[in-house]
Amino acid sequence: MTVVDQIKDRLDIVDVISAYVPLKKSGRTYKGLCPFHAERTPSFVVFPESGTWHCFGACGTGGDIFTFIMRIEKVDFGEALRILAEKAGVLLEERRPQEKARQDLLDRLRGANAAAAAFFHQLLLHSPQAEFARRYLAGRYLTQETIQSFELGYAPNDWEALSRHLTAQGYTIAELLEAGLIIAREEGGHYDRFRNRLMIPIRDLRGQVIGFGARALDDTPPKYLNSPQTPIFDKGAVLFGLDRAAKTIRARSEAVIVEGYMDVMMAHQHGVTNVVAAMGTSLTEEQLRVLARLAGRLVLALDADAAGDQATLRGLNLARQSIGRRRVPTLRPDGTVGEEERLAIDLRILTLPAGMDPDELIRQDIARWNELVVRAQPLVEYMMTHILRDVDLRDPLQKAAAVRQMKPILLELQDDIERYHYIQRLARRLMLDEHVVEREVVGAGTARPSARPGRGRRPSAPPEAGPAEEQRPLPAGRRELTLEELCLLYLLRYPRTIFPLSFAFAEAGVPFLAPEDFQRPENRYLFEQIQRAAEEGQLAEPVVLAGQLPAPLAGYLQELLERAEIPLEGLDEDEVLQDLSRSAFSLKGRGIRQQLSSLRFLLEEAEQSGDGEQAGRFARLIQQYSMTLGAIDQALYRLSLRGKRDVV
Ligand code: UTP
Ligand code: MN
Repeated sequence: MTVVDQIKDRLDIVDVISAYVPLKKSGRTYKGLCPFHAERTPSFVVFPESGTWHCFGACGTGGDIFTFIMRIEKVDFGEALRILAEKAGVLLEERRPQEKARQDLLDRLRGANAAAAAFFHQLLLHSPQAEFARRYLAGRYLTQETIQSFELGYAPNDWEALSRHLTAQGYTIAELLEAGLIIAREEGGHYDRFRNRLMIPIRDLRGQVIGFGARALDDTPPKYLNSPQTPIFDKGAVLFGLDRAAKTIRARSEAVIVEGYMDVMMAHQHGVTNVVAAMGTSLTEEQLRVLARLAGRLVLALDADAAGDQATLRGLNLARQSIGRRRVPTLRPDGTVGEEERLAIDLRILTLPAGMDPDELIRQDIARWNELVVRAQPLVEYMMTHILRDVDLRDPLQKAAAVRQMKPILLELQDDIERYHYIQRLARRLMLDEHVVEREVVGAGTARPSARPGRGRRPSAPPEAGPAEEQRPLPAGRRELTLEELCLLYLLRYPRTIFPLSFAFAEAGVPFLAPEDFQRPENRYLFEQIQRAAEEGQLAEPVVLAGQLPAPLAGYLQELLERAEIPLEGLDEDEVLQDLSRSAFSLKGRGIRQQLSSLRFLLEEAEQSGDGEQAGRFARLIQQYSMTLGAIDQALYRLSLRGKRDVV
């Protein structure tokens, strides 16, 4: 829950606004004189249920508690947040003293690492001691520009050069220990961790130095000495190069993961800027998660000899699925917010030519590199290829063994379609009947087994749709209809009402119902048809419509019409319009509320990744949607004042 949500949760909008404007209860809302323009009759309305307010008078504005405070106190969002946080007793991060102390410590540790990077870098550029390191880098084909932009450095062959330098800058020994830059001696005292090494700063997403990879310049093992785990350096989550690669990764929705520091630096030097490194260890779920937030397609480059390690691949396959399969908000090109079901991450494997690492390959043959990236195989396909590689198709026993080897992998797939796809592929490649393979894999029926090996944490079938649509209670005799169904039924039974309905929306200043407001795909499609018919000037009489629908939908339409045969007949058009308007506005409100919660999620994400421009955009949209919500509430309020039919 964000602070904003916490605050909204704790504060009653009526209390907040009452402190500035005397309010009077009026039905489910509160009314008062608008504080933003001079008026004698109250047109300022507060909607406690949606937590919004709206002025229906001259100024016509509205919003939530935040916009109210911003306007009335003439402050920006940050200040409004502070004011309301205080009222709500919600402590903003910076105010929690322990939190603050912790943040200060982390800042100090980052500061020490940044200062160390600068120190090493200066030595590399200018110190006579670093002559060998400079020659080494030239021999590795790294350009001056790369050396500068990665801020490569040289740690001198000295036990305390760095600690002297940093303590002179005010860092304490305790801080340097905690930053992983020095090591305590058992007998007391300390020494610099990195000596006579090429220093490669490792940065977080914001570009702040959090640790180092330090390459030996001779054959003193280890080849690479890395910073230890520290409060700012979490090996399992960091990806080398992500700070500079994130932008391209997001833009192309593709990330390439290589093994080493050198590989990343060479890639970026050659303009291949979507490359990051997992730094030697196998990719963790945490790292996958970080990348999955930026890109839909992840390509893992593996050495020819590491490439067959089935245990690692299986682990990756499980991780990929446990991260995927969730609904993520997306911003559509037209600025509205939608949701997309993201399936298990598209994780692909690129096998490097034997004996080559990306560093060499990119340097020598970038076209080949690009081709390998494009041709990377989906992980499961890759595992299958590996298992089938040596199978002799003339030998039924080998075929059976291959199916058995694939079985656990296929059973682990969470997505039915994906699993079925690979069952088909496997059958074809082994020249077997697909049903036979399917039976062998999933057992007698076609149903998937409920207990699968692997992780038991996840529910076996993730929810397919969004939150269940609310059911509306209706008088006896009528079966329960959802809001969506009710709207559709009215529009089908009384097709002409779509015109006054859209007029009511326009009048209220609310964008008209859109297919996206319907969650159930069938309903969405039906609404699209109705809307199109209306636009083409022909009304969607059910009979006409039924003839134009694909068979399953025609059946669905029929069922829908039958369900509501009795109660919807014989109403006068005005009653219909009122009922319909109420359902339609409620439906729209539900859609907007969902969009708002998506937007808040996006805003939080943008703020976390420090993308101020996007954050501003989302904040503006949030404001805009909140206002639309206010307008919807107002329309519903007006409708509630008119004839009170209790049907809806
Ligand atoms: P490599 O041995 O492939 O090194 O290890 P490299 O990156 O290609 O470096 P060069 O080209 O030999 O100079 C791949 C990665 O594994 C981690 C490092 O992140 C390295 O970049 N590694 C390797 C270590 O952390 N420690 C080691 O001792 C070796
Ligand atoms: Mn290498």
